[in-house]
Amino acid sequence: MHRTFTSGLCASIGFLLLLAAGCGPKQPQPGTVLDEALQVNRTVDTFTAAGLDPSGHDYLHDMDGGIALSPAEVGGRNTWIIWTGGNDRFWDVISVRSAGALDFLKTLSSYPGVNGSKPLPASRKNRWRYLGLVNEPCFKPADGPDPGRWGLWLDKRDPNCAGGADPFEDEAKYPGVRIGARGTSVQGKQIPVGSFYGWASGIVGLRLFPNPDFNDAAARKWDPVKYYTDPNYYNDATLIKPYRVGMSCGFCHVGPNPLKPPADPENPKWENLSSNVGAQYFWIDRIFDWDNDPTSFVFQLFHASKPGTLDTSLVSTDNINNPRTMNAVYALRPRLERALLAGKETLAGGSRNNKQFNEFVKPDDPALGWLTKFCEPAAFCQSPSTSQAPSPTGVLAARSEGRFRFGGWSWRSQSCLSQHRTLQRGVASALQSPGGRKADHANRNSRSQEELYVLAGY
Ligand code: HEC
Repeated sequence: MHRTFTSGLCASIGFLLLLAAGCGPKQPQPGTVLDEALQVNRTVDTFTAAGLDPSGHDYLHDMDGGIALSPAEVGGRNTWIIWTGGNDRFWDVISVRSAGALDFLKTLSSYPGVNGSKPLPASRKNRWRYLGLVNEPCFKPADGPDPGRWGLWLDKRDPNCAGGADPFEDEAKYPGVRIGARGTSVQGKQIPVGSFYGWASGIVGLRLFPNPDFNDAAARKWDPVKYYTDPNYYNDATLIKPYRVGMSCGFCHVGPNPLKPPADPENPKWENLSSNVGAQYFWIDRIFDWDNDPTSFVFQLFHASKPGTLDTSLVSTDNINNPRTMNAVYALRPRLERALLAGKETLAGGSRNNKQFNEFVKPDDPALGWLTKFCEPAAFCQSPSTSQAPSPTGVLAARSEGRFRFGGWSWRSQSCLSQHRTLQRGVASALQSPGGRKADHANRNSRSQEELYVLAGY
């Protein structure tokens, strides 16, 4: 039972509006919009990464083969996987501008369909298989609407889990941004300010935050049953949800460790996860259109992406739908050094605004000094592109300058989609299909949990 053609069309128009956002004459000028932290005078020094503080938390210790990390590296990994940098505001806006196609609160839910209503396509029980998302260790599926969570069916922390409490949720230690309804009482319930890391959600890379817009009027209107079941209710652009969802880098860059895959891919332990293999099983069409509606433009656009790929420049204006594999971020140094052989590229225009390693690392740093030889700041820079092509931006610009880096050259898409899966990941031979067909790792229908079982026995 999909949305009707009309509402699919609305979703399409909504998405086009989303693409157009930022271009209109009424938009504020870049660099003039304050984020919520700055609106309440929270400056950068009031956000200390967990792990850098003396009592540092190496909560993710078992990941990445249990490798020993320095405090700075622990802080870095925590940031990579847990910190969402205030983007819960962005993703909440997108949930409206995509006309409800993207709704991470639904992606996080396990609503099974009650009294004959339609269940959500995915729940914690099949989330990895269906969405390709990594279930967070130490959680159990929702067993009912949670009155402590505004009636939502969200994953529950398993009190018996050896990992203990999530240290990042400590709001005394990592105080969140007190703005709007946060820290006030709504309908007789105290709304926590929360930690700036938010609460663990049950999906690695997604964190939950109290919605500052969820005031008394919003709470009066809130109906969790209709939120799951009634399109007239949940597609209403004025609906304010009790939580916002933030996304960390790890959402797309964490995956099952091929050297230590989980016995049950739906229930990995931290020791089964790797920070840098990439979310190779990610179905972006199902994630960015929770309802999986084939009449929706949003769904069709993302349906062009094979599992484990997406177009990182999709909100820019290059008008190219150019899905790329979720890179395994490794062998950075040899790749950078190859780029040195390829010559220099001069930075110009907005590329000069990108931060480079030289701004963070000193040349005499024994461990990381080598990173500084690839750039003369504001002059040239080599890029560790996975297709070995130098590009006008550096690795730090991978996110901010996506248009040039990811969208500009059609030939790169070919190399990334076909060769990377086979060569860079180095797991091809383990993934031959039982029928003896040539492995097609990007074939959307052939990627499944069996792959991990094959890997496990390999
Ligand atoms: C929505 C998914 C998504 C999120 C979130 C995400 N990335 Fe990525 N990232 C990708 C994809 C896809 C690529 C590959 C792009 C390409 O090759 O064109 C990539 C590539 C990269 C690369 C290049 C890796 C290499 O080996 O060449 C770096 C570095 C990177 N991302 C850093 C980050 C950082 C830092 C964050 C968080 C601020 C982040 N990513 C968040 C999807 C994501």
